[in-house]
Amino acid sequence: MKNANSTFLYMKIANNIERQIIDGVLKLGDKLPSIRVLHKEYGVSVSTVQEAYYYLESKSLISSRPKSGYFVIHDKNCIFRSPKTTNPPQEKVSKDACDFFSNFYQNSRPQGVANFAWALPAPELLPVAKLKKSLHETIRVAADGGTNYDTIEGSVDLRRQIAQRTLLWGGNLSEKDLVITSGCINALSLAFMATTEPGDTIVVESPVYFGVLQLANQLGLNIIELPTCPIDGMDIDALRTTLEYKKVNAILVVANFNNPIGSIMPDKNKKELVKLSKQHQVPLIEDDIYGDLYFGKNRPSTCKYYDDSGLVIWCSSFSKTLAPGYRIGWVAPGRYLDKILKLKRYHSIATNSIFQNAIHNFLVNGRYDHHLRKLRTTFCSNSHKILRGIKKYFPEDTLVSNPKGGFLIWIELNVKVDTQKLHERANKYDIDFCPGRMFTLQNQYNNCLRLSFGMVWDEKVERALQKLGELANEMINEAEEIQVLSH
Ligand SMILES: Cc1ncc(COP(=O)(O)O)c(C=O)c1O
Repeated sequence: MKNANSTFLYMKIANNIERQIIDGVLKLGDKLPSIRVLHKEYGVSVSTVQEAYYYLESKSLISSRPKSGYFVIHDKNCIFRSPKTTNPPQEKVSKDACDFFSNFYQNSRPQGVANFAWALPAPELLPVAKLKKSLHETIRVAADGGTNYDTIEGSVDLRRQIAQRTLLWGGNLSEKDLVITSGCINALSLAFMATTEPGDTIVVESPVYFGVLQLANQLGLNIIELPTCPIDGMDIDALRTTLEYKKVNAILVVANFNNPIGSIMPDKNKKELVKLSKQHQVPLIEDDIYGDLYFGKNRPSTCKYYDDSGLVIWCSSFSKTLAPGYRIGWVAPGRYLDKILKLKRYHSIATNSIFQNAIHNFLVNGRYDHHLRKLRTTFCSNSHKILRGIKKYFPEDTLVSNPKGGFLIWIELNVKVDTQKLHERANKYDIDFCPGRMFTLQNQYNNCLRLSFGMVWDEKVERALQKLGELANEMINEAEEIQVLSH
């Protein structure tokens, strides 16, 4: 138990440091004194200083780097207003609304000079050599060379490793609670099929990852897009009202570092969400694919953590952290386990055993945590670079989400900028990004865009961001000129 005195002491230290950061005495990237130094200077215990640093970390003012200490991550010149909570219309949409995404994929060029479009970590940031080693070892020791069908639920060794990792967010899953899937999208697909029938209705955040829109459309599901806050995620009050007045068959949520809006749902909202799902007996499908990519001290919790009725179906994969091409994901189906096993048997029989075992080999040799630490540091540093770039190059009234994890940022531009047209112009300079319209079935987010910062940040990327800002400014100027001429 802390006594009032030690609480006072750690807050005193934290307040002093916070003031220096806000006043710009301590600047972005500055290293803070070590815990030992402050412990001597203030004459307090090491844990009191640690407490002060934890507090500042929770306010996203500082961040620890492995083996290097604590650094300022707050940039006083780089404060943005965040976009407002969204307010999606609830109109019926045409069946072919999803064509937009297919067209985008056809036109989008992964080889572009600056690819802000793809929600993938750049291959240069992935442990390719070590993964190759794991693959070689896997093939060498497999008696059948990986030729046989695996079990439906997937490699028990890999499931055990994944189950162990749930301890990081307070989970206590065992390998029996998990089924390996072909990436997260396959986990979501099985979850939808296990909980809904064609013609049923699901609720999602708005904006929402376009893969979900396509999938739900394909399965004949109606979609209700709910208001979503760029900081806290799905609006729980709006969900409560929807559940009261409409027949909903499943809820889908990306509670941690949402794609595309970057929000992270506070624990109390996660708890409330699970409570609502239980109260209305509506399954909650939780897509936690970005959960391991936090910038703060601890891995954020999950909705699954609060689940005591088996209604939460927790889905994820290694696609955003390790190897999207290996197509290895998983689902913890709760009370839908038998249904999901059956569906997996019908649809795919088993998952590729070589890649499951290679990832198990990578994890069991302790390579994953080291890799994740590096990746998180890079993404956190990229997030500062992209924010600084947007501040410098984009129109002044730009609104920006400020993600605390993952590698996606949501931007709302002046309404005069149609981001589909901006996309066409940017493509001419080999710059790619996702226009906001991709993340909804309604006619909205036409002045929004999603940028990925999962790349190696270099001069080319910086120049591309500058160009994008210039193009946005150019479109505003053109619109204003037309307005003047028409008066
Ligand atoms: C929120 C979300 N869920 C699922 C997926 C698909 O993941 P996977 O490649 O593991 O199927 C993505 C990929 O962008 C995503 O952003």
